[in-house]
Amino acid sequence: MAVLWSPEFSVGVSAIDEQHQELFKRIDSLLEACNRGQGRQMVGEVIAFLEDYVKTHFATEEKQMIKYAYSEYLTHRTEHKQFIENFSQLKKKFEETGPGIQLVVLTNKIVVDWLKNHIMTTDTKLGTFLKEK
Ligand SMILES: [Fe+2]
Ligand SMILES: [Fe+2]
Repeated sequence: MAVLWSPEFSVGVSAIDEQHQELFKRIDSLLEACNRGQGRQMVGEVIAFLEDYVKTHFATEEKQMIKYAYSEYLTHRTEHKQFIENFSQLKKKFEETGPGIQLVVLTNKIVVDWLKNHIMTTDTKLGTFLKEK
């Protein structure tokens, strides 16, 4: 199943929404590459891009939280750290087993579900706060 961004994921701040859209797109590419049985190098490149992009994205949100003294900064940041840990588990799995169905299952479980949930709750709350600034 494709990982598609839809307006229900909008947090109301366009810079953040655009980055979320890019994240969905790249995660979808990762799943597609695994499903199509593409090579280790290609899948490895998508994983490397995602790892970097996620960090850039989290830094964007965290900068805004600091700038406006957001009271839920620490809990929000803790969730980001959790994701980075999840993602390194995924990368480890990839290094051990290569691309394939196991990686698809793990990506869905620890990346897609987490991301959707985080955007729908934690990022949406932040978006509401930022819109008032
Ligand atoms: Fe976030
Ligand atoms: Fe986010």
